[in-house]
Amino acid sequence: MVTLKICTGRTCSDHGSKYLFDRAEAENCSRKTLVKIEPCACLGRCEQAINIKVERPNRDPQILNKITGPQLAKIIQQT
Ligand code: FES
Repeated sequence: MVTLKICTGRTCSDHGSKYLFDRAEAENCSRKTLVKIEPCACLGRCEQAINIKVERPNRDPQILNKITGPQLAKIIQQT
């Protein structure tokens, strides 16, 4: 299963990550995909907010920067 961790640290929250989290959950539910979406603490790249971490089985985790709602929806759709 793929896990998307959406940073809800202070800077990412200031950039709307909590809204992004809610939107991602709604997108995930409507598609009934096998993506797990979780909030997470600061990923240490605040200057590039909003950040998410993508964890896939048997692969190194990947941190994606400056994520927008449409980008996140696309990531969910492609997973
Ligand atoms: S608050 Fe999101 S990377 Fe620091």
